[in-house]
Amino acid sequence: MASLAVKIIAWSRRCVRPLPWRGVRGPAPSRAGKTAGAPEPGGASPYRIWVSEIMLQQTRVETVIPYYRRFLNQFPSLRALARASPQSVLKAWEGLGYYSRALNLHRAAVRIQKESGGRLPRTAAEWQRLPGVGRYTAAAIASLAFDEPAAALDANARRILARVFAYRRRIGDVRSQKELSTLYQRARGRAAPGAFFQALMDLGQLICLPRQPRCADCPVSKACIAFKRGWQDRLPVRPGRVAAPHVDVTAAVIFREDEVLIAKRPEGKLLGGMWEFPGGKAERGETLPECLRRELKEELGVSVRVCEKILAVQHAFSHFRITLHVFRCDRVRGRPKPIGAAAVRWARIRDLTRYPMGRTDRIVSRNIASKPEIR
Ligand code: ADE
Repeated sequence: MASLAVKIIAWSRRCVRPLPWRGVRGPAPSRAGKTAGAPEPGGASPYRIWVSEIMLQQTRVETVIPYYRRFLNQFPSLRALARASPQSVLKAWEGLGYYSRALNLHRAAVRIQKESGGRLPRTAAEWQRLPGVGRYTAAAIASLAFDEPAAALDANARRILARVFAYRRRIGDVRSQKELSTLYQRARGRAAPGAFFQALMDLGQLICLPRQPRCADCPVSKACIAFKRGWQDRLPVRPGRVAAPHVDVTAAVIFREDEVLIAKRPEGKLLGGMWEFPGGKAERGETLPECLRRELKEELGVSVRVCEKILAVQHAFSHFRITLHVFRCDRVRGRPKPIGAAAVRWARIRDLTRYPMGRTDRIVSRNIASKPEIR
């Protein structure tokens, strides 16, 4: 079976994807003098691999690359990251989604700096003790950075293994995790763990695609049982998907001369630590203005008059979709207090870009900044 890994690795070396977190170890990369396709100096340090693997959770490679480059310029070392404020890390993450990743990364950096004098973990078991590092990410980092033979089973690896070995059980439960781990090691044989993992990522993202895999270009189609039997579109067998529920959410834009009221979301919640235009989810049977009045009272202790609707924004999170209904409001009574928020602030409209915000609130902030007539 070793030949399977050898073939995938040889193919992956030929297709050379210029991913900035791959490359030779050495000093930090500079923006100047970068050649497409050439390994970047410093690309493969454990710190850089860690940052890249966290950014790549649930996020496509093409999306990650510019964020990764900016992040590494701003926080070139573990020490620099540990010294930074959580808000500056969130700001660098803005637009990438799943913001708890940024806070966990920062928290872990502070902890490593304090408890281990900046020495990064080596084994997958040690990595997994850090916030934000699950079993898969720990295995990916340990295999890429230290060649530990851990099975890093992400969606790409699962899909490839399920097809190559015609694994017909439903994936996603504990049993399939164990069985696919065994198949992972069988496919790897004696190949270097880091090179094998990297090659699987290339194969999964360029050839063995979820839909319409490019089997004609696959380096291991001859060994692939699904290909032989024509099952490649049926495998892997995924757990049944439930349609993502839809929620109506309201937000208030309250002006005070050239300022607007914003609130910081509590940590530990969705978009924790990010700033937003205050509001919340509509309850059953409640109208949107009723929802907004209730939320502003509960969250900030203010009474408002809900005026005209400014815009509505659609957004999909991982497990639900929202429509954010944005209303201009007038404050009638009360000084805003952070009752159900981490902080509340009158922010100058032209300073709104400084505050880390999720996608929907950033759309609102750009909208009001570009339309002085609505104030
Ligand atoms: N997805 C997760 N880790 C990856 C990596 N190191 N390269 C490409 N895609 C990935």
